[in-house]
Order: sequence, then structure tokens, then C-alpha cells
Amino acid sequence: MPNRIFNEKRGSLKKLINQILTIILVTVSLIGLYLLFATVMGSSKKSYENLEERNPKSEEDYLVMDEVAKEYETMRKFEEYKIKFGKKYNNQEEENQRYSTFKTQLEEIERLNRQEKLSNTTFGVNEFGKKYNNQEEENQRYSTFKNQLEEIERLNRHEHLSNTIFGVNEFADMSDEEFKKMLLPIGSVKKYKENSKFIKPLPQHLEKANGHSLDDYPAHFDWREKGVVTPVKSQAIPGAGYCGSCWAAAATVESAYAIKYHELKNLSSQQLLDCDQSNNGCDGGDDDKAFEYVHEHGLMTWEDYPYVAQRQNSCLLHGNKTTSLAVAYQLNPDELSIIDWLVNYGPVNIGINVPPDMKPYAGGIYHPSDYDCMGKILGTHALNIVGYGTSDAGEKYWIIKNSWGQNWGIEKGYYYMARGINSCGVEDEPIGLLA
Ligand SMILES: *[C@@H]1O[C@H](CO)[C@@H](O)[C@H](O)[C@H]1NC(C)=O
Ligand SMILES: *[C@@H]1O[C@H](CO)[C@@H](O)[C@H](O)[C@H]1NC(C)=O
Ligand SMILES: *[C@@H]1O[C@H](CO)[C@@H](O)[C@H](O)[C@H]1NC(C)=O
Repeated sequence: MPNRIFNEKRGSLKKLINQILTIILVTVSLIGLYLLFATVMGSSKKSYENLEERNPKSEEDYLVMDEVAKEYETMRKFEEYKIKFGKKYNNQEEENQRYSTFKTQLEEIERLNRQEKLSNTTFGVNEFGKKYNNQEEENQRYSTFKNQLEEIERLNRHEHLSNTIFGVNEFADMSDEEFKKMLLPIGSVKKYKENSKFIKPLPQHLEKANGHSLDDYPAHFDWREKGVVTPVKSQAIPGAGYCGSCWAAAATVESAYAIKYHELKNLSSQQLLDCDQSNNGCDGGDDDKAFEYVHEHGLMTWEDYPYVAQRQNSCLLHGNKTTSLAVAYQLNPDELSIIDWLVNYGPVNIGINVPPDMKPYAGGIYHPSDYDCMGKILGTHALNIVGYGTSDAGEKYWIIKNSWGQNWGIEKGYYYMARGINSCGVEDEPIGLLA
């Protein structure tokens, strides 16, 4: 009996212990789960906070990051640029300065291209309740209206397609001050013209343009296609600095000689720099005196008298003079007279004013604004018109041979410049040469 009671008691005690154990187990599990949950939540909260610490907190931070990325991109472009154009700088200081000029030029190119994209003006006709008195007036109005429509179409086409393209070239790290060294002082061409002795007024029997209109001439003309134009030269030689020898490059009478004697030669600009004592070598010169020099002394070939981009101490003229020039004529300062000389006689020597955006010119038809041509010019430059044409959009242009190397501009050193509007004085001082 007591044994039975004891057994019963032991049974209920065992039950009780089991119940307590279960409760403890459940509690411990719950605590464990809670701890686990708390740990996970805690750590995820922490990592979220870390993320917040690493990321920018404000718009300003984003702007700074943009700037850094842009700077990095500019640095990358500068590295590419140095390799492409074989640039070598003397020290870190120069490199930093070049980088800064390069960066400014890049920003300017971006601005210019943006502006070109946005500059297309649109022209349109408005609708009005027009009433005419009779059929005759109506016909006349119609004809005027039709012409205006065509003109509007032409203008819109022109505005839409005339975009000039700007880009990076080897001068992108060159300051405007340095660039000026490749140019002549502002206004110099005009001054030379007034005082010229060798360049003569065009005699009447050569003035064939009289009584003609633009329609009488070919729509497109290019002396390069006739094999009388030498490859574009460079006034600058890497390492030798920049030389204001455009007057000597343009004064060479290669094309006039080739047209007369059917023999194309590179003629020596260096001979003019060294030997023409009436001019100032790399510090500039006067076409009138240069032409007179060539007329009297002739020129050696470029190969026999190579270019070194600076005036040497003595004139190294040594026989083998090949070329001379018979005459130089002042043409009338208008589109028709220039075209007439081009088509009948040869390339035309010109002077222009150079605004800063001519430096990064990279394509299209260059049409600097009047404001740039009047107020922002860096200097004057002498070049040769070798042809002309009209774009698909109806915009007329000159084909101009420059002397800034074959990497500048288009078609290995050339550019197209707006024709017929005397852009930056391009039609002001045309000179025709005969060998
Ligand atoms: C320029 O022309 C394009 C294409 O015709 C046009 O989409 C754009 O709005 C024009 N821009 C301006 C400023 O008129
Ligand atoms: C003139 O010089 C260039 C190199 O600068 C050369 O390729 C060319 O054959 C030379 N002669 C003529 C007639 O162009
Ligand atoms: C003159 O020209 C001939 C060939 O035309 C050449 O062999 C010679 O080296 C030239 N002389 C000088 C001094 O340049």
C-alpha cells in the first residue's frame, strides 16, 4: 500500500519534472530565437548604417563625385593626347600647366559644339487674312511668296546643316598667347597692302569677272584635283617652338609655278625666313616684300633648304634655285573676282583675322560670328584659297589651305570657310600670282 502510494507520488513527481523541463526548454528556445533574431537585426542595421556612411549624403557630394569623374576622364584624355601627338614636356611644372590649358580647351570645345547645336534659327511664314484687288496682283503676290518660301527653306536648311564641328587637335594644350606666335599682328595685312610696292593693281585686260555673275562659273572647283598643290606644311616643328612664318608658307609660289611649268615642287619657306632680310623671320613678314624677294632671287626646294622653324644666323642659299615669280596682283575684294581668278589662273593668297575658335576647328563650314571676328581676334594669318564649293544644304564655302600641319582641320590640313559674306575678312585682301 505505501508502496503503491509512493509509486503514485513518484509518478506525479516525474510528470511535474517533465512539465518543468518542457517549460524550461521552450523558454530557452524562445530566448535563443530572440537572441538570434536580435543579432541578425542588429547586424543588418549596422551594415545599413555603414552603407550610409560610405555613400554621399547630399547633392553636393554627388557634384563633387561628378567633378572627380570628369577630372579623371580629362586626365585620361590628356594621356591619350600626349601619346597621339608625341608630346614631351620638360618638367612636372610644364606638364601641369599644359594640362590646365588642355582642360580649358576641352571645356571650350564642349561649349562651342553645344552652341552650334543650338544655333539653328528657324524661319517661318505667318498666316494672315490676305485679300488682293485683282488676279494680276494675286499672281504677283504669289510669285513673291513662292520666292520667299524658297528662301526660307534655303535658310532653314542652311541653319540646320551648317554646323561647324570642333575637336581636339595638337594645339589643344597651347595657350592663346602661344598661338598668337604663329600669327601676324592684328591689322598687319591691311597695312602691307596700303604700302605695297611689288603687288600691283589688277590690269583691266585680266578683269574677266566684269559683266559676269556667279552662275557663269562652275558650282565646284578645286585646284588640288589638278595636281598643282603640295601637301600642307606645318609652321611648328616639335621641340623647335612655334614660328610666325605663315607669310613665308603662303608666299611660296608652288601652285603658280606648277600651273605654268607643269612641275610641282615643295618650295623653301626657310629660305625666306633666313635670306629675306626685309622681313622678320618667325616674328612675321609682309607678303609684298616676300613676293618681291621671290621675284628677284627665286626659291630653292623645301628638300634642298629644309625647314627648321626658326631664323638661322645666315642665309644658306646654295645654287639650285628653281623658281621665280613674275607678278602679283591685287584682286578686287569680292567673291566674284576671287572665283574668276581661281578658275582662270590659280590659287589666291589671302589674309584673315583669326578668332580663338579657329584653333579647335575640326569640320563642317567654319562661319565665325561677326562679334568674334571684330572683338576677339588673336591675330592675322596668311593662307591660300585653292577652291570653292556649296554644301548639300546650300551653304557656300571656300576651300582653304592652311600651314598648321596635316593634323589640323580636315582633308589633311585644310578647312572650309563660309563664302560670300567676307567672314573675318577672308575676301578683303585677295592676291593673285603668276609665275
Ligand atoms: C535645331 O534644329 C533641330 C532639328 O531641326 C530642332 O530639333 C531643334 O529644336 C532646333 N533648335 C533650335 C534652338 O531651334
Ligand atoms: C613635298 O613634301 C612632301 C612631304 O612633306 C612629300 O610627301 C612630297 O612628295 C613632296 N613633293 C611634292 C611634289 O609634293
Ligand atoms: C642640286 O640638284 C641636284 C639634282 O637636281 C642635287 O644632286 C644637288 O645635291 C643639288 N645641290 C644642292 C647644293 O642642293
